[in-house]
Amino acid sequence: MKILFYTPQSDATAWLADLRCALPEADVREWQPGDRAPADFAIVWRPPHDMLAGRSDLRAVFNLGAGVDAILALEREQPGTLPSNVPLVRLEDTGMAEQMAEYVVHAVLRYMRRFDEYALLQAEHRWHVLDPHPRESFTVGVLGLGVLGTHVARVIASFGLPVRGYSRSARHIDGIATYAGPAQLDAFLDGVKVLVNLLPHTPETHDVLNAGTFAKLADHAYLINVARGAHLVERDLLDALHTGRIAAATLDVFREEPLPAGHPFWSEPRITITPHSSALTLRAESVAQIAQKIGALTRNEPVTGIVDIARGY
Ligand code: NAP
Ligand code: GLV
Repeated sequence: MKILFYTPQSDATAWLADLRCALPEADVREWQPGDRAPADFAIVWRPPHDMLAGRSDLRAVFNLGAGVDAILALEREQPGTLPSNVPLVRLEDTGMAEQMAEYVVHAVLRYMRRFDEYALLQAEHRWHVLDPHPRESFTVGVLGLGVLGTHVARVIASFGLPVRGYSRSARHIDGIATYAGPAQLDAFLDGVKVLVNLLPHTPETHDVLNAGTFAKLADHAYLINVARGAHLVERDLLDALHTGRIAAATLDVFREEPLPAGHPFWSEPRITITPHSSALTLRAESVAQIAQKIGALTRNEPVTGIVDIARGY
């Protein structure tokens, strides 16, 4: 079995070593420009057009991330980047759900327990107890109830907070009030105190975090965007912060990454910024999952995580 590997981002050597260890029978090679030799599987992050274009030998392409928006955008820009009729398989969880829950819980509790306001009081050397947020109306709304959103929603609910979730198709999750499809979006948003975005970026979800969305939330709502920068209309967030409609935001993802020097978000004290690090791709977990799926496909068994290209996720 022959496996092609490519990532522009991290240390390919370590990935190649781990893949060879997990799949000792496979010939795993890093793709180099001009390599047209046969391969059975490709494991990629943002592959160059020439890597996979026109190949008819592949049984599957594995995306080294949960989100497939980048690879689908490459395909739109340069058709043929993905070979036709070859399944595209994404990472499912691989340790990201736990990381995402830690990140979101931190942000939710920081707002609920007013830590930022206590930090300001401390800076003024003031001893002053702030009224707690009423727990029963501190509703957390999670946009996207997939692998990550479902786990995050469950973990937040375990703190006894009211939690709602929104997805495309109807879902039932114990302890979570669920809403599905555009017809239920307004009901989902109505009165939400903390909005957490864990949607995939697709043409349907582009710009979903906008002034109209913010207007439906509870007063002084909080925004946590851990999905994609293109979900957020940045000007609308700055305006909502200035009017107080949104009290503050924690943002892990941005339209342009790294966030450019001089971007107004850097100097907005009500925005907390992290560098797309809420849930990192963990090599050991990812290699184990991909190796397990390659084994299943080789035995003609079904695998999960196959992307619906038309749907965009
Ligand atoms: P997933 O399992 O595919 O879940 C996607 C969820 O979004 C599903 O519940 C889906 O609804 C829902 N959805 C999709 N389109 C929708 C629409 N138009 N309206 C309403 N709901 C819609 O994805 P995941 O693994 O949880 O990952 C979610 C996203 O997180 C990824 O796409 C990626 O962009 C982002 N991410 C970010 C980081 C980071 O470090 N910041 C790390 C990993 C992932 P159905 O249930 O009906 O299909
Ligand atoms: C990271 O953002 C991913 O999609 O895995």
